[in-house]
Amino acid sequence: MSDPEDIFATPADTGEMTDAPRILVGVSGGIAAYKACELVRELRRRGCAVRVVMTAGAQAFVTPLTFQALSGEPVRTHLLDAEAESGMDHIALARWADQVVIAPATADLMARMAHGLADDLLTTLLLATTAPVTLAPAMNHRMWEHPATRASHATLCERGVRFVGPDSGEQACGEQGAGRMAEPAAIAAALLDTHPGALQDRRVLITAGPTREPVDPVRYLGNRSSGRMGLALAAAARDAGARVTLVHGPCEHPPPPGVATRAVETAAEMHAAVLEALEGTEVFIASAAVADYRPAAPADHKLKKSRDSLNLELERTPDILADVARRAEQLAPRPLLVGFAAETDRLREHAGDKLTSKGLDLIAANRVDAGRGFGDVDNALLCLWPGGERELPRQPKEQLAGELIRLIADRLAPDTNPDHPSSPQEA
Ligand code: PMT
Repeated sequence: MSDPEDIFATPADTGEMTDAPRILVGVSGGIAAYKACELVRELRRRGCAVRVVMTAGAQAFVTPLTFQALSGEPVRTHLLDAEAESGMDHIALARWADQVVIAPATADLMARMAHGLADDLLTTLLLATTAPVTLAPAMNHRMWEHPATRASHATLCERGVRFVGPDSGEQACGEQGAGRMAEPAAIAAALLDTHPGALQDRRVLITAGPTREPVDPVRYLGNRSSGRMGLALAAAARDAGARVTLVHGPCEHPPPPGVATRAVETAAEMHAAVLEALEGTEVFIASAAVADYRPAAPADHKLKKSRDSLNLELERTPDILADVARRAEQLAPRPLLVGFAAETDRLREHAGDKLTSKGLDLIAANRVDAGRGFGDVDNALLCLWPGGERELPRQPKEQLAGELIRLIADRLAPDTNPDHPSSPQEA
């Protein structure tokens, strides 16, 4: 906490303000429970009414009295609390909340929630509430990666539970990896919907999916891209208020509603469609897995298997992203250029090279070995931009897309982003 002296001097100190967002903070038992204190404080600073529910484990790390002082409300810890109103506290709390956030959410809490257990006050009210629920997980990175936690995560995502974090970095146990609780300010921003509208009315052009390069009328050279990442980006940009044009190859899923689409098959078609749609584009995101080579002379008849071997001569396809980058300087506005890098090794190094050589503003790098990246439900991204980077940990592509869109919106908004290339600090 930044200033222990002023813990009671928060704008929301009037307790039950009628129009204040009512946030129920659930704290489960991990070392990051101490960061939940700052979250409560941050929410009150932003004008929220906050009530806190703690599990037994959480109380081993922080006392209820601390949260009582910070929230200005009694803290609930027991399911059957004779002193709390009518003994039906979980229902009253569930009805009271506009939003529920669990921070930290331990692996145990996620598992109990995924299975619908109701063996304490927090899990019981999670079953009883109809309010949106957000989890800020915190645990050792091996626990986060464990198949059991992955399964809980997938189940909860399917049920509409939102996740903020976890972040990557050094953990309380001394190990490195994804599992640190997201920063309280980031959780508060997500809860108070600071981000929807972050791309309000911006024109965003996205490429998605694979391309197919014909060998003959029935065969093609392709790749394993399902299109999921690009379609998720289109949906997330749309949700952030953007006017989205999606140029996509043959994807496994239909494009999201509410975006303009252009279906193509080959790299050349994608190239032409992108250049046609480029005018007025403010953000260009190249998530498509575009073939780098195509058969130089596709046959106009089905090739017969009369020979023992067949040599195909390949030629380069147009590099769409590089071409857009070349033209970008002449465009007004100059679009923000976001590329992807699909790498099987030396992720940071190769992505850094692509960022520089293609003159990009941001590159999102993913590992595509061992069944990762292409076709997978989850993905993880290392995002690099000139002078900065952020790891977006492994999560479903739909969620990951939301995080990447927020990052892109931050790069577009120099006023709110002190390390933006065009911000006055760096001028
Ligand atoms: O579709 P999914 O199954 O969900 O999988 C997602 C994904 C793994 C395909 C996606 O996350 C991803 O990594 N997309 C980029 C794949 C790729 O082609 O990466 P690359 O490192 O080969 O290309 C670098 C960049 O140049 C990419 O932005 C690519 O879109 C672009 N490029 C490449 C070649 C080309 N001819 N034109 C291009 O615009």
